[in-house]
Amino acid sequence: MQVTTKKISVLLRPGTKEDIPELVKHFSSMRVHMYTQGLFGQTLENELEWYDKTRSSQEGCTWFIQPQGSKVAIGVTSLHKIDTWDGGCSSGIIIWDTNWWGKGVASAAHLARTLFAADFLNKYSIRSSVREDNQASRKALEKVGYTVWGTEPVDAYRSGKWIKTHQLKWFRPDKHQFYFPDGLPELFTPGVARAKIALQTARQVVEFI
Ligand SMILES: CC(C)(COP(=O)(O)OP(=O)(O)OC[C@H]1O[C@@H](n2cnc3c(N)ncnc32)[C@H](O)[C@@H]1OP(=O)(O)O)[C@@H](O)C(=O)NCCC(=O)NCCS
Repeated sequence: MQVTTKKISVLLRPGTKEDIPELVKHFSSMRVHMYTQGLFGQTLENELEWYDKTRSSQEGCTWFIQPQGSKVAIGVTSLHKIDTWDGGCSSGIIIWDTNWWGKGVASAAHLARTLFAADFLNKYSIRSSVREDNQASRKALEKVGYTVWGTEPVDAYRSGKWIKTHQLKWFRPDKHQFYFPDGLPELFTPGVARAKIALQTARQVVEFI
């Protein structure tokens, strides 16, 4: 998928083995992993194992993110648990090259990923989670319609203190009745309105190539 916003154009493409050394180079950074589930730098062998597992997995789909102007992938974004019975899945993103932070890469990638979940996987909901201090990630998710519905205390330990994790949920605007036959809870109303706009935008700006 090629997604072009006012800020940036990014390609979401399958990974190759040749992408993995670049990933490994950046994955040893604690700056990158401050708010992820990871804590340790990974070896090439570990990441090649991850690559092999991921490429043959039926439970999720993973795209490598390559912005226009970069010769290499600078991050990865995924939908997981796409094989469940509940109409939902979960999502995650890591932009490992910090030079590309704050340039709209996640915002663009989320448009494409959300569109794919809704219009191709026929998903009705998406789960995600974000560390409390990770404002850029929370903002990027909220912009495409995710809503924080709860916060887990003492969920990770970083820089000598416990940090909280927000839990988020995205509901597809035309399908939330599947989960809420008695009406959409007020908490989710603004998020679903944002999701509607995000999907409309994505259908304009995401190109399948
Ligand atoms: C978090 C992460 C995905 C954000 O990606 P990004 O491409 O830098 O995000 P964007 O540039 O699309 O920015 C998203 C929004 O956050 C804002 N933002 C960017 N950096 C910010 C910061 N440091 N603090 C607050 N807001 C910030 C942007 O302005 C934008 O909002 P806007 O469209 O209203 O201007 C990226 O930094 C990353 O991969 N970090 C390491 C791994 C990680 O934390 N993954 C997410 C785990 S949940």
